Amino acid sequence: MRGYLWGALLVCHCHRVNDATIRSIAREGARTAEEIGEACGAGTGCGGCKPAIAGLIVSEGASRGVASLPMILAPEPGT
Ligand code: FES
Repeated sequence: MRGYLWGALLVCHCHRVNDATIRSIAREGARTAEEIGEACGAGTGCGGCKPAIAGLIVSEGASRGVASLPMILAPEPGT
């Protein structure tokens, strides 16, 4: 299957970085797509993979119980 390399999904096509690499960097402490980019280049080309990178960061953080999705609070009715 195209885009699937040795059990990992190719996330950044510009720099050929797969999800396993991004997950590993996130587990080492990267918390933003920019930090992932500094570590491996992913997301520093066209930028089309940044949403996927952000999702992987959240996924890794959530699986370790140290991060959560940002919450948007609705205003109270009448405010
Ligand atoms: S696909 Fe990742 S920067 Fe273009």
